[in-house]
Amino acid sequence: MPDKNITELTIRRPDDWHLHLRDRAMLRAVLPETARHFGRAIIMPNLVPPVVTSAQAEAYRGRIMDALPAGSDFTPLMTLYLTEATDPEDVRAAHAAGIATAVKLYPAGATTNSASGVHDFEKVRPVLEVMAEIGMPLCVHGEVTDSEIDIFDREATFIDRVLKPLRKKVPDLKIVMEHVTTQDAVDYVRDSSKNLAATITTHHLIINRNHILAGGIKPHYYCLPVAKREAHRVALVQAAVSGDKRFFLGTDSAPHTDPAKLQPCGCAGIFTAPNTMSCLAEVFDAAGRLRKLEAFASLNGPAFYGLPANADTITLVKGDPVTYPAHIATDDGPVTVFDPGFDLHWRVT
Ligand code: NCD
Ligand code: ZN
Repeated sequence: MPDKNITELTIRRPDDWHLHLRDRAMLRAVLPETARHFGRAIIMPNLVPPVVTSAQAEAYRGRIMDALPAGSDFTPLMTLYLTEATDPEDVRAAHAAGIATAVKLYPAGATTNSASGVHDFEKVRPVLEVMAEIGMPLCVHGEVTDSEIDIFDREATFIDRVLKPLRKKVPDLKIVMEHVTTQDAVDYVRDSSKNLAATITTHHLIINRNHILAGGIKPHYYCLPVAKREAHRVALVQAAVSGDKRFFLGTDSAPHTDPAKLQPCGCAGIFTAPNTMSCLAEVFDAAGRLRKLEAFASLNGPAFYGLPANADTITLVKGDPVTYPAHIATDDGPVTVFDPGFDLHWRVT
């Protein structure tokens, strides 16, 4: 049941614990959409070429700061792309200098620009041991890449084949299982005693695989991990609205131009930055759990990362349907904004 009597909600300023900003013209076009509502974001390193070293992360952070609208207080939290050649001492230095907040693990070939990711987990063990020692989190794209594993089973298989052994070998490593899409992942995180959390995206709280495939193929709902069946979506909503400290927002807002999405082999990624807070308020309201939105979007993430919550607040107000653009323009072409498929009534004032 919606919280009928709540029409205004003030929460600590939210953060986005998984965000793609890209570079150059795309960066300049999409960054203001996140900086408008969010205090901080964990910035994904899957550029071409990827952000592997502390020097590359520092340079990328500089380009983000240069692209910020005047007067914005937004803080990008940088990540390093883990490769089998990553130097543990470069990671240690990047963390100590405040250049990198986390390291990102892509199994090689799992998703957009992940070719330099990890094949052999033993090769990255020295890096993971340093990270455990200094308390630096590992953000994990949790899908196996083996072609014989069905794409809808790749997350659940990853838990058994990769995550469980990894956590046994380096138990003190803090791990964020990113953009979880299954009941299996929710259960695995809930059953863990420490050092494991999960991010949940905006769109996985709203769409299931029917939205992608039933009644015609909808490229704008295609992302990785791909949305699963409805029972999994319901499990994600339950986790998000529960207030459980191990679940927090990582939008995985991942802009691609329409021409890149709408082709025979279209890119994976959904652009949710402009309307994420309105979408989330709608989901939490429908579940009768608006009062847990702050935990999910603003409190649980910083607590896991050992950072303070943002000091300032945002206010959401419920009213007539919100209008937002269907696309944003970039110098590379239009980027379609996520369509939740229902009216949004909550606006950030
Ligand atoms: C992301 C992208 O486009 O960079 N795509 C996506 O579908 N989420 C990569 C990723 O996070 O997997
Ligand atoms: Zn992503």
